Amino acid sequence: MFVGDIFGSAGRHIVREHLPHLLETHSVDLLIVNGENAAGGFGITPSIAEDLFDLGAHVITTGNHIWDKREIFEYMNVPSDSHARGRRILRPANYAVTTPGFGVYEGVLADGQAYAVFNLQGRVFMSSCDDPFRKADELLSKIKAKVILLDVHAEATSEKVALGWYLDGRVTAVLGTHTHIPTADERLLPQGTAYQTDVGMSGPYDSVIGVERELVLQRFLTGMPGKFEPAKANPKLCATLIECDGATGRACRIQRIMLGE
Ligand SMILES: [Fe+2]
Ligand SMILES: [Fe+2]
Repeated sequence: MFVGDIFGSAGRHIVREHLPHLLETHSVDLLIVNGENAAGGFGITPSIAEDLFDLGAHVITTGNHIWDKREIFEYMNVPSDSHARGRRILRPANYAVTTPGFGVYEGVLADGQAYAVFNLQGRVFMSSCDDPFRKADELLSKIKAKVILLDVHAEATSEKVALGWYLDGRVTAVLGTHTHIPTADERLLPQGTAYQTDVGMSGPYDSVIGVERELVLQRFLTGMPGKFEPAKANPKLCATLIECDGATGRACRIQRIMLGE
């Protein structure tokens, strides 16, 4: 199960409310959550990361907001062969190699099932980073696990769709994040990769992608700078459930989930 961008306290609240029953009902083996907006919409703190791990997350993925809270730098500063929680929070793999943390994690579940998760950021309408396509090739040449999930954190649908086709048959799932809007295009690609352009935000939907409506409207209406505050109203959890063959990594089912209060 993959939970889309958890946004602020409203997002953390709705995730806390629904995760326990979702994990049980669907017999979830592996839980991955995107936490880039978990701290007031901007970044993630070590204590929030700890809470998400306590809720059952195996890996936390992120994106362009990963550096918004400085406290996370030190938390992520662990050796590459560590399995500590700080090693299981990822930043996009195609960032500069000198940045803290890692963009890929390989782990083993209690039942012996190996898995890998990696995180990439798009380049279209986003700040510059390395080529996500070639970075995916490079990472996949080293990953040993068959069950592999990619969180592609990108703005443009075209870039995500292209990456889905590029990796079809090479990973279990390509799931998009960052736009905070769930897309209805979940499908199994022909070579066995589950794909969805964007899982959607887990956060307040009476907002503009998580932020208080009035503040964003004023920005659009006047072009003047202003502080963005996270909204609270109408929280929803957005997640995507994938079923796959553990031996081959091929996906056989993908299901979109959206739950309100
Ligand atoms: Fe986000
Ligand atoms: Fe983002």
